[in-house]
Amino acid sequence: MTLIDILAASIWLMLPAYFANPMAAVFGGGTPIDLGKYFPDGKRILGNGKTIRGLVAGTACGILIGFIQIGLAPHLMSSGLLDNWPMFNAALGAYSLSTLYIVFLMAFGALLGDTGESFIKRRLDLERGAMFPVADQLDFVLGAWVLTYIFAAYWFNTYFSFWIIITVLVATPLLHLSANIFGYLIKVKKEPW
Ligand code: CTP
Ligand code: MG
Repeated sequence: MTLIDILAASIWLMLPAYFANPMAAVFGGGTPIDLGKYFPDGKRILGNGKTIRGLVAGTACGILIGFIQIGLAPHLMSSGLLDNWPMFNAALGAYSLSTLYIVFLMAFGALLGDTGESFIKRRLDLERGAMFPVADQLDFVLGAWVLTYIFAAYWFNTYFSFWIIITVLVATPLLHLSANIFGYLIKVKKEPW
């Protein structure tokens, strides 16, 4: 595998998680997940930036992307495009209950990680939208990995090899930052991070 192969495989594997996060920002709003409640420390549990609609819509969009990938994989394979990437076709499998489960875990896990980060931010007295470097860029990666590691350990261990993990950890902050600057420019996000 070349570096490009590893990068492409990393993005392919992470795509449902990568999509869930920004789609929560696009479709989010309305009732907050914490229902406006406060933690014993006197601060909001999560804050108004984490909404039920964002969680549901983000998860749904992540699953949708996963399903599009599953549909595309055989075509990419027969085109010979995937000859160097033998793992690609199998990574998300064929349409089935277990692949629905995998893409759900990736998408929902991503948003759970993002929600967990907000919980920590509020405990640290950081306002909604305040910058929290590294955590802002990797919260959803960690969430997706934790959930798949717990509930689909075999799948996680098969596809997230050491070098894929390293590549995701390095590439994601760069992709995330570019996506957020774009989101800021098209006014979907209030802050460019
Ligand atoms: N969003 C949402 N529901 C979610 C996640 C995100 O509605 N479950 C929307 C909110 O409008 C949020 C925006 O997406 O403001 C951007 O998400 P993010 O940057 O993660 O939230 P922040 O506003 O930075 O809030 P926090 O400080 O709690 O991370
Ligand atoms: Mg966040």
